[in-house]
Amino acid sequence: MKRLTGNELRKIWLDFFQNKKHAVIGSASLIPENDPTVLFTTAGMHPLVPYLLGAKHPSGTRLCNIQKCVRTGDIDEVGDATHLTFFEMMGNWSLGDYFKDEMISWSFEFLTSSDYLGIDKDNLAVSVFEGDEDAPKDEESAKIWENCGIKRENIFYLPKKNNWWGPAGLTGPCGPDTEMFIDTGKPKCSPECSPACDCGKYVEIWNDVFMQYFKDADGKFSPLSQKNVDTGMGLERTLCFLQGKKSVYEGEYLKAFRIVGDHIRTSVFILGDQRGVTPSNVDQGYVLRRLIRRAIRYGRMLELSAKSLTEIADVIIEQYKDVYTELSDNADKIKRELELETERFERTLNTGLKEFERTVRNLDGNIIDGPSAFRLYDTYGFPLEMTQELAKEQGLEVDEKGFEQAFANHQAKSQSGAEQRFKGGLADSGEETTKLHTATHLLQAALRKVLGEEVFQRGSNITAERLRFDFSFGRKVEKPELEQVEKMVNDVIEKDLPVKMEEMTVEQAKQSGAMGIFESRYGEKVKVYSIGDFSKEICGGPHAKHTGELGKFKIQKEESSSAGVRRIKAVLEK
Ligand code: SER
Repeated sequence: MKRLTGNELRKIWLDFFQNKKHAVIGSASLIPENDPTVLFTTAGMHPLVPYLLGAKHPSGTRLCNIQKCVRTGDIDEVGDATHLTFFEMMGNWSLGDYFKDEMISWSFEFLTSSDYLGIDKDNLAVSVFEGDEDAPKDEESAKIWENCGIKRENIFYLPKKNNWWGPAGLTGPCGPDTEMFIDTGKPKCSPECSPACDCGKYVEIWNDVFMQYFKDADGKFSPLSQKNVDTGMGLERTLCFLQGKKSVYEGEYLKAFRIVGDHIRTSVFILGDQRGVTPSNVDQGYVLRRLIRRAIRYGRMLELSAKSLTEIADVIIEQYKDVYTELSDNADKIKRELELETERFERTLNTGLKEFERTVRNLDGNIIDGPSAFRLYDTYGFPLEMTQELAKEQGLEVDEKGFEQAFANHQAKSQSGAEQRFKGGLADSGEETTKLHTATHLLQAALRKVLGEEVFQRGSNITAERLRFDFSFGRKVEKPELEQVEKMVNDVIEKDLPVKMEEMTVEQAKQSGAMGIFESRYGEKVKVYSIGDFSKEICGGPHAKHTGELGKFKIQKEESSSAGVRRIKAVLEK
């Protein structure tokens, strides 16, 4: 087994796949482009959805990269041995190119060969899909693993819950997967112990997804036009194992340190992202706010001052700045926002303490009920443990079950909110969405012509019904200006200009004056869409063929989105 550093592991991953004829693509932004199905990029496949569905990728049919990812679904497990809210995912893709045979043999080679990770094959376990009414039992993958030398007893058949990946939203590309686990050598927790169980014996490090189905809104699976491979290996987990770091949870303080470290690192990446977000009460801004506040709370337990959090941020920026240059470019902003949010939270902390005292004064008996404890958690950011500690000092208790109930009710509510977002996006290449993508380009170009070059895309969210476009601009856009923008867009629509797509390197795109977020790496090829000489933008598509298809463009609303950012909602009428 090799004791690799992070840089070495990144390098051998990309080298391995380049040797297998893969093109290296850059890490996409943490904030998904035009994709409302997820708040953050949670896996390398998100930005590739159009290509998994059949669009041609400018870099070919074999790709690999290292993708920045944020996942908060398992935030409560952060602080154990293996969970992080920010992590790097090393990935590779076959876009209708190779399939199971090559992928599994390569996975085996990368994991076990002494040129790469050099892990003893008997320390590995794999799982394959056990089959159900949507897709057959994956005996093919099991056979390939066995031929590679994985023992039968280390191959597990598991159901959809464990061995099926995607779609991240309600609809999208998906398929059965085969997952690879490190067997930590701990004894089995029961005779049934398998990689499906979370006793800690098996730690997942890599997932090969055989993306060959599309899940539609009715939950039906139909075959995709091409069979793809989508894999992802967790960089930090793999390193932790290779470096022989302990993988057990070692006590409360260690957990607090880990939480502070994890949450500040994730916050640094979100604040420093190409499409950077600031703390707020909605969407990505809210997740960021929770992370920073949770770090502050745990930091207090360790008697860390607010200033130390910024110092931790400095260390993180320093450590990653060569790989992710956006962090050093945005270092001032990252630190400023961390400080501001800390100041704001210290204010709620104090009002929260007053709220706690009020709750105690009004108490009937000696138990603080669940909804009150949840209110302290949710509104004032008090973790249950903190409320419990405060209660104990006064000889009181907290109804823990009631707290969990209130928490579960809240989650059920926020999940149904999240489902509202699962429409449109890059996975949706429906006719209406496609037209709205093109209309968004026209809107941005018209805004820049009317309001000036200060206008720059800050976010976009498209459903089949409307577009929503956020852009940098310091004041309200006046009605006559909006009318002028609308007219300009409609003039271009009337001219029925062709929408032209060209592939070029990022540098050529920049030189040609294309707008867009330059998140791709040096030399990488991108698609540039131009509409006459009116608009030119780097974009993954999909787009209409001619502007005449669009219909009549109508701005419905202009409002503030956040400081220095305006939001326009617009529709296309037939
Ligand atoms: N999309 C898969 C995952 O996230 C493989 O990258 O596990």
